[in-house]
Order: sequence, then C-alpha cells, then structure tokens
Amino acid sequence: MATTFFNYSLQFLVLFLSLNSLINVSLGGRQIEPTSNAEFIKKSCSSTTYPDLCCETMLSQASTIKTSPQLIAHAALNVTLSDVKSATESLAKLSNSNRLPPRGAKAMQGCLNELSDSVEELRRSISEMDKIKSSNFQKRISDVRLWVGAALTDESTCTDGMEGENITSDARTSVRSQILTISHLTSNALALVEDYASLSRHG
Ligand SMILES: *[C@@H]1O[C@H](CO)[C@@H](O)[C@H](O)[C@H]1NC(C)=O
Ligand SMILES: *[C@@H]1O[C@H](CO)[C@@H](O)[C@H](O)[C@H]1NC(C)=O
Repeated sequence: MATTFFNYSLQFLVLFLSLNSLINVSLGGRQIEPTSNAEFIKKSCSSTTYPDLCCETMLSQASTIKTSPQLIAHAALNVTLSDVKSATESLAKLSNSNRLPPRGAKAMQGCLNELSDSVEELRRSISEMDKIKSSNFQKRISDVRLWVGAALTDESTCTDGMEGENITSDARTSVRSQILTISHLTSNALALVEDYASLSRHG
C-alpha cells in the first residue's frame, strides 16, 4: 500500500519534471512557469516602467493576449495608438476653444504636430507587428523599436515645447496630464516590444 503510493508519487514527480523541462525547452530555455492569462499579463507588466497602468490597460484583453509575448506587445501598441489619437483630438479642441496668446498657440500647434508624427510612427509599428511572423523578423522588430522610440521622443518634445509658454494653467495641466499618460503607455509598449524581441532572439 505504502509502496504503491510511493510509486505513484514517484511517477507523478517524473512526469512533472519532464513536462517542466519540455516547457522550458520550448520557451528557449527560459524559466517561465506555465501561467494563467492574467498571471502572464502581470508578469509581463512587471518589467515595464509603469506596471499598474500596464495591468490596468492589458488585463481587459487577457483573452486576446493569452500568454503570447507577441500579442501583448501588439495589444499595448493598439491601446497606445488609440489613446494618442484621442489625446490629439482633445488637444486640438482645447487649442481651438482657448484663446491662446500667439506664442502659446504656436507651442500648442507644435505639440499637435509632434503628436501626429507619433500617431504615424505607432501606425507603422503596428503594421510591422502584423507582418512580423512572415519574414525578416530582425529587421521588422528593429523598425518597431525605432518607431516606438521615436513616438516617445515626439511626445516628450510636445510637453517640453509647452513649458514656459504663456498658456492658461488649466490648459497646461490638461495637456501635461494627457501627454504624461500617453507617454507612459508608449514607454510600456516599448518595454513589451523589447521583451518580445529578446525572447525571440533565440528562435
Ligand atoms: C490590434 O488592432 C487591430 C486593428 O484594430 C486588430 O485587428 C488586432 O486584432 C489588434 N491586436 C491585438 C493583439 O489587440
Ligand atoms: C500672458 O498673456 C496674457 C493674455 O494674452 C497677457 O496679458 C500677459 O501679459 C502675458 N504674460 C506674459 C508673461 O507674457
């Protein structure tokens, strides 16, 4: 009786260990435990600069992302693009509704130009992500990193341009907080792209 139980335990242990090593091998030797979709997202988000924001935005898409490093990077880019687009619209409204003094209006226009570049760069990144598994992985992923990095730079150029300008403090605060959020989303997306790139380097 005791022996049978022991045998069972042993068999189970052996099965467990070989499954574990199978999983490790298929993930390029990385020590990643099999996880639920939500755990995968939390774990992936923990390597970003703004993990709470990352979880907040990604968890609702857990069923799409599953446990794929490619899909979480792709989904993060999607969310970032849609947020940058809505921030651009809201700043354009603000810029029209506030009678800004000329220099302030110029800074706001400059900011809107930067954001529209950022939208374009994110669009290109997403379109590369769509094709990333087809061919030229290294070239595509390095383009994605380049463009997402450029989008991030454009967003911070936008806020820098607003500093010291004579615009109402309400407008300034609103611009600042919106740009801050999108630049955090962009930074997170870049971290997830980097993770995906480094995971895939082996394969
Ligand atoms: C990203 O957005 C595109 C276009 O809306 C959609 O087709 C795709 O499924 C999305 N991908 C992820 C991972 O969310
Ligand atoms: C800021 O703009 C207001 C209204 O356009 C103007 O009265 C004020 O002198 C400006 N202040 C500075 C520091 O330029």
